[in-house]
Amino acid sequence: MDNILEVKDLELHYFTQKGVVKAVDRLSFDLKKGETLGVVGESGCGKTTMATALLKMPTPPGRIVGGQILLDGDDIMPLSETEIRRRVRWERISMVFQGAMNCLTPVYTIEKQMRETLQQHRQMDRAEAGKRMLKYLNLVGLSSDVLRRYPHELSGGMKQRVVIATALFLEPKVVICDEPTTALDVVVQAEIINLLKTLKEEMGLSFIFITHDLSIEAEVSDRIMVMYAGRAVEIGTNEQIYGPQGSAHPYTQRLLGATPRLHEEVKELSFIPGTPPDLLDPPSGCRFHPRCPVVMERCPHDDVWVREIEPEHMVACWRC
Ligand SMILES: Nc1ncnc2c1ncn2[C@@H]1O[C@H](COP(=O)(O)OP(=O)(O)O)[C@@H](O)[C@H]1O
Ligand SMILES: [Mg+2]
Repeated sequence: MDNILEVKDLELHYFTQKGVVKAVDRLSFDLKKGETLGVVGESGCGKTTMATALLKMPTPPGRIVGGQILLDGDDIMPLSETEIRRRVRWERISMVFQGAMNCLTPVYTIEKQMRETLQQHRQMDRAEAGKRMLKYLNLVGLSSDVLRRYPHELSGGMKQRVVIATALFLEPKVVICDEPTTALDVVVQAEIINLLKTLKEEMGLSFIFITHDLSIEAEVSDRIMVMYAGRAVEIGTNEQIYGPQGSAHPYTQRLLGATPRLHEEVKELSFIPGTPPDLLDPPSGCRFHPRCPVVMERCPHDDVWVREIEPEHMVACWRC
């Protein structure tokens, strides 16, 4: 089997006082062994929510209300929280949370924070834990003296490396990185991206790499999933999304039109008219239809889900 993760019709809703926010709506996709799947889309389209659903760790008042998550062939949906904590989360699938590097506790040394995370999840004696910390710090390019330092003594890039090392600790097969480079300057961004590429190659890890920045996605990912308003609108290889033929979904095309790109004749950047929808009351039919430049008669009425239009290339659009 070459899929490490298969997600089918995943749904996560937030049950707020104002109503139900359908943040992830019937999302289906696969992650192949050893690949990086990029997830892109505007802020608020449900990227982080999707990631928390994959860890079965929704943020209150969120709840997973449907779907299936197969991790290396095992359906983890029916597992209890105790079983997930003992055997799945961090052990088989882990996550670098959005903004985690800014959430390191200022009064603890790096060693203390790493030890606590490690020991919360697995009983391990002190010496063994120490060895493992060093192994992963070295892997992410840090030396052992980082252990004695406090977060304020480290640069942003070093802190992000600590967070990545912590996510790798229990040797998961799948690592989700949620906007891991967003708060960093471009030079450090490039370093972190190269680090993730090396880890993928050397450890055979599979990554889900979430960002709102399409130009970074092109650099790291083998395949891309574009999300809009809680749904997948297009999934394809790098070539299918960025290649000369161009992407197939009007939203992806617009998103690319709004992204500055190198090695291309300079044309004016476009923007996407209208605002991202309110997920408390999303548009009917295709959720992009109110902003779509090529909307058709049926789009506001009929829901549309991703379908294969050529091998590896899935699009949710009535025009395709
Ligand atoms: N804890 C929460 N309670 C209620 N609504 C939430 C919560 N977290 C996120 N949302 C809503 O869910 C939608 C998706 O949010 P999020 O997953 O954070 O998007 P992204 O990561 O793509 O920016 C947004 O409409 C957001 O307002
Ligand atoms: Mg997010």
